[in-house]
Amino acid sequence: MSAEASAPGKAILVGEHAVVYGMPAIALPLSSIRAKAAYRQTTSPLTLIAEDLARPPLMIDADDTISSVPLARMAALTMQHFGLKSLPGEIRIRSDIPIASGLGSGAAVSAAIGRAIAQLHGEDMPAEALNRLVYEVEKQHHGTPSGIDNTVVVYEMPVYFVKGSSVEFIEVAAPLWILVADSGIAALTRDAVAGVRAQARLAPGPTARAFEEIGAIAIEARNCIEHGQSDRLGELMTANHRLLQALNVSSSELDNLVDAALDACALGAKLSGGGRGGNIIALVDEASASMVRQSLVEAGARQVMLTVAGEGPQIDNSD
Ligand code: MEV
Repeated sequence: MSAEASAPGKAILVGEHAVVYGMPAIALPLSSIRAKAAYRQTTSPLTLIAEDLARPPLMIDADDTISSVPLARMAALTMQHFGLKSLPGEIRIRSDIPIASGLGSGAAVSAAIGRAIAQLHGEDMPAEALNRLVYEVEKQHHGTPSGIDNTVVVYEMPVYFVKGSSVEFIEVAAPLWILVADSGIAALTRDAVAGVRAQARLAPGPTARAFEEIGAIAIEARNCIEHGQSDRLGELMTANHRLLQALNVSSSELDNLVDAALDACALGAKLSGGGRGGNIIALVDEASASMVRQSLVEAGARQVMLTVAGEGPQIDNSD
């Protein structure tokens, strides 16, 4: 018996941090970078092997509800979901999504594990159920996640997300060319979220105003995406970056990359995800893509990846 499953990375287009406080945000799947879980039958109890994560093999206890290791918690939760008391074999996890870089690595690994176990059980797990389990794991390990990361990773479609509301998928009217540039600095989302929470306590008025402005940006950005208004979308992304700077989640390295993208005529640029490190995204067009990429590399980007949102199958919102 064998099974193989995967899930993509993600980028937050606009709205990170404010989304934790109930504002809307938009996220895109990054389908070309993925976490993969491959199952192989053995006679030992289920073991997770994640060499990329430099962690020793993990033996899974299906009754474990409080494991401090996210991968183990996800495997245990999925087994409980299907009423599996034991499962002999090993799941090998590989991922090309950089860790602690704002690209959804944790959620993607969880989703891939959940899907692999579902396949073994001979059932497709509906996205809604998988999303709920991945969110459980995110909550345990990230404190107060909004739920946007697990949602975009599980559904693998551009999403307009408001915490506590049902997910809405966005129709992308004209393909969005986005460069994702890695600062090479690892930063934990959990720490950035805690920093913003501390700032909200110290300066409640200005922080709440920043959240409101970011929320307004997300609403307008959705409209731009649905009507193919890329120039305005770029301006909104850059305005969002300025507000994230005010929330103290940017860094000199991220600011340098954003400036380098804008100097090379990107339509807009901003940090993406928790910030303090990780990646920036730049909205480009076919004409400017290679110049912006070059400028990002010269400014110190470790890796630059192009993703085009809206070229794949589109969601049918008619029902
Ligand atoms: C992380 O990808 C996005 C944040 O807004 C955190 C969250 O929404 O849970 C920073």
